[in-house]
Amino acid sequence: MANIFPYESTVTQTMREHLLQQKGLVIWLTGYSGSGKSTLANALEMALYQQDHKTFLLDGDNIRTGLNKDLAFSETDRKENLRRIGEVAALMADAGLIVITAFISPYQEDRRKVREIIGADRFIEVFVDCPLEVCESRDVKGLYKKARRGEIKDFTGIQSPYEKPENADITVNTATESLEGCIAILQNQLLNKISLR
Ligand code: ADX
Repeated sequence: MANIFPYESTVTQTMREHLLQQKGLVIWLTGYSGSGKSTLANALEMALYQQDHKTFLLDGDNIRTGLNKDLAFSETDRKENLRRIGEVAALMADAGLIVITAFISPYQEDRRKVREIIGADRFIEVFVDCPLEVCESRDVKGLYKKARRGEIKDFTGIQSPYEKPENADITVNTATESLEGCIAILQNQLLNKISLR
């Protein structure tokens, strides 16, 4: 970019990570609306907090009421939504935090770009697997019903696609596993990726 000169701070990421005794990274949950991303992200954050980890949670509905309230659900807007979140998560990981994100992130290409922004060595993609029929039958927010009635457009799974991850680092199935079971799988898989201790 012309006339821009990024500045390297004297306190390095390694120094911050040493102070916090953890490696900054991003745990990226992807899946349908109603698959359980927010519930899992929240429970995972609590489990990590209880082990003295410094965390932060970025969640779709929350970010869309603030930072990204100018964006809707077209393919272009979702792309921009995820690009901004990717950049924010990368900064938080630079600060040494363990960032958990819960966004549908339906396009493979957008997830690939986010992995690139954050850096493959500190990006963990978690596929929150749950059949669309199950998400629709849960319909926690009543949005599937609205989408079927045509009151919401571009709804993921109804009029808008969801591209399943082909190479997720971790997959949890919320239709067949309990919340506790999913958290146990996540914690187990994350164990040696997180701690410096
Ligand atoms: S993403 O596709 O850009 O990653 P994001 O996770 O931020 O989506 O937002 C999804 C949330 O927005 C859903 O959980 C749902 O509550 C709400 N929502 C409203 N309209 C839509 C829509 N058309 N498609 C999907 N989710 C929607």
